[in-house]
Amino acid sequence: MLASKRILLIIGGGIAAFKSLDLIRRLRERGAQVTPVLTKAGAEFVTPLSVSALAGQKVFRDLFDLTDESEMGHIELSRSADLIVVAPATADLMAKMVGGHADDLASTLLLATDTPVLIAPAMNVRMWEHRATRRNRATLDADGIMSVGPNEGDMACGDYGPGRMAEPLEIVAAIEAALVDGPMKGKRVLVTSGPTHEPIDPVRYIANRSSGAQGTALARALSALGAEVVFVTGPADVPPPEGVQVVRVQTAQQMLEAVQAAMPVDAAIFAAAVADWRVAKESTSKMKKTKGGLPKLDFAENPDILATVSQLQKHRPRLVVGFAAETDDVVENATVKRKRKGCDWIVANDVSAGTGIMGGIENDITLISEEGVEDWPRMAKDQVAARLAERIAKALT
Ligand code: CTP
Repeated sequence: MLASKRILLIIGGGIAAFKSLDLIRRLRERGAQVTPVLTKAGAEFVTPLSVSALAGQKVFRDLFDLTDESEMGHIELSRSADLIVVAPATADLMAKMVGGHADDLASTLLLATDTPVLIAPAMNVRMWEHRATRRNRATLDADGIMSVGPNEGDMACGDYGPGRMAEPLEIVAAIEAALVDGPMKGKRVLVTSGPTHEPIDPVRYIANRSSGAQGTALARALSALGAEVVFVTGPADVPPPEGVQVVRVQTAQQMLEAVQAAMPVDAAIFAAAVADWRVAKESTSKMKKTKGGLPKLDFAENPDILATVSQLQKHRPRLVVGFAAETDDVVENATVKRKRKGCDWIVANDVSAGTGIMGGIENDITLISEEGVEDWPRMAKDQVAARLAERIAKALT
């Protein structure tokens, strides 16, 4: 799958750089050509000799290396790849990308390129969770930078938490997803997934039982067909797929904003179980028990994201697909829902307690469109996703 693909690999300065040596090996085993770029800090962790020996190519290090410029300028170098991979992507490299800095070879290449970029962040957990890095992550997501990881676990510095660079094989999978060629190549698709959490006070929230499994499987299946996927997810149980642009949100209102920011798209799939209501006024401090009295909560209705997008006058996606979670009269209710919201297809499912569908691994769906009602046999959510993704690909050609 990676045969003759050209990867420009930027190795930043972090202890995880040692895994990038294995990454080079794994990529070359699969037939990819790896052109390595080592930052100054990266060279403190792995030697240029090991990098170039494994890559079978010279390692680029300095912006002002005249030999390199006469052979290949930095602009050309930045554009001569099918994909730029930054692994490890340090907090500093991410900040430079956000700020558009160009003060060394790596940052200049990232600013000059028109090639897709995939980052594999790696840093201390506190740095990963710092507000500045969170802001930078959100900006990079919005800029269309793909990411893989980081994973949670023990860190070299003794801390525990998210911040470990994804494993080489996970990065390879993300690279394959980013480079895949299929019927959805060139198509941009939005998928919403997971539940939303609507805060009541700093410690309590309204939620639902959605695990995010169906939406995640669908995003993965669409990406496998070559689509560029923007995956807007609430706090789900299952991790997001590799190789897609992940936008994490908590509330329905944030989900709407993220969806609007992702437009225009060719297709939009709304698999999220969005909370219909939020508490009208979130309490800024923890609500306390009062003697004998029960708390009074006033609700406000959340925006209907599916209906908003279905009824867009400008930039309405060519295909809008909603899901209908029902417990009674599934087909009748879902048919009415499709008309009311104005979407093209509705994927209806019975989420009654006995079905084991919500939070389970299987799904039993009915696809409702203008053409009619199709009852699919019960199957794994992954299979539902693959079949739906193919139908979506067909509808967009
Ligand atoms: N949906 C949405 N925004 C909302 C509520 C739902 O985008 N505020 C989307 C869901 O992602 C799903 C579809 O609308 O694709 C139907 O969701 P569902 O919960 O079944 O329907 P509701 O709109 O909540 O209608 P009802 O409460 O009548 O079942």
